Amino acid sequence: MSQKRQIIAIAGVGGLGQYICQELSADGRFTVIVLTRQGNLPLTFRNTTIHKTDYTEPSLIGIFNATGATTLISTLNCPNDDYLPLHTSLLSACLNSITCKRFIPSEWGGNIDDFPNLPRAYGRTRAPFRDILQQTKADASDTGNKIEYTLINHGWCMEYFLPEGKSYRKHCPGEFPVDVNKWEYVVRGTGEEKQAWTCGRDVARGVKELLLVDEWPPARPLTRVHRPLAEINASLQKYKDQPNSIELAIAEAEEWGVSGATACPKEKALRQQACYFSRLKFMTIEDMLNKAETEGFV
Ligand SMILES: NC(=O)c1ccc[n+]([C@@H]2O[C@H](COP(=O)([O-])OP(=O)(O)OC[C@H]3O[C@@H](n4cnc5c(N)ncnc54)[C@H](OP(=O)(O)O)[C@@H]3O)[C@@H](O)[C@H]2O)c1
Repeated sequence: MSQKRQIIAIAGVGGLGQYICQELSADGRFTVIVLTRQGNLPLTFRNTTIHKTDYTEPSLIGIFNATGATTLISTLNCPNDDYLPLHTSLLSACLNSITCKRFIPSEWGGNIDDFPNLPRAYGRTRAPFRDILQQTKADASDTGNKIEYTLINHGWCMEYFLPEGKSYRKHCPGEFPVDVNKWEYVVRGTGEEKQAWTCGRDVARGVKELLLVDEWPPARPLTRVHRPLAEINASLQKYKDQPNSIELAIAEAEEWGVSGATACPKEKALRQQACYFSRLKFMTIEDMLNKAETEGFV
């Protein structure tokens, strides 16, 4: 991105918004425009001005055009029924403003690639808005009205491991499985399910890095086809007498994959790596992709 100072509007500066606001306002490459419904917000970050709005399109366009805001970040946390109208208004204001052509809506959840509708509130709010964003992008070739957007999802906020009051984050007792105030851990599922968390300051640093990227890469969603186990088993049965058929080969590979049998036992692999292969650095997928890109062949 050019060295020109970026003017970043942040809608709804509460728990997460304060980390983003603090990170950006401390960096001379950014000016921060805080959008709020409140008459008086106790924020004292430098390079930051506070603008009262009811989040309607005319009000937002007025602020964007007056300040020259180039990017809008939403950290709004509103009741479910308000999410779509509010975000549609934010999007329209960007589209119809003169300068604000980048948009990060309020996602800040987890693995939306595999679980686009979880938590369920996200299925009711973020998922339909993602469709609107995609449609807007598709329409842009006709309308010429372009908006660049990206979605940021980082897992739980890590501050839930702290007692309330030690971070900008508000706690919702019972939502996160660890309650440090009661020194209690609620086991959900087996307790072994993967969890992810990122601290607000790192999310904010990540947002800043993204703002410095010239062009956000277009989303290239994988086409996902779900083949239930029952169908795999039916193919294994149907083609069992055709050992050389591609259908049986595929069904057997599917069974191999879903059973977890492709993965060598981690502890054993690490032990053997230390014992026999410690002088080797095995390639990661990322190493291999980089090599393919730079050298053309792996
Ligand atoms: N992954 C996680 O673990 C996790 C945890 C918490 C939150 N989140 C997500 O992160 C985002 C930000 O959450 P947060 O906790 O930082 O938010 P928050 O502090 O609860 O609220 C942010 C702002 O939203 C605005 N707001 C609230 N209700 C509204 C309404 N009805 N209409 C319009 N504006 C309203 C308020 O701004 P003004 O009053 O200044 O206008 C408020 O300061 C949300 O998308 C939330 O779902 C994720």
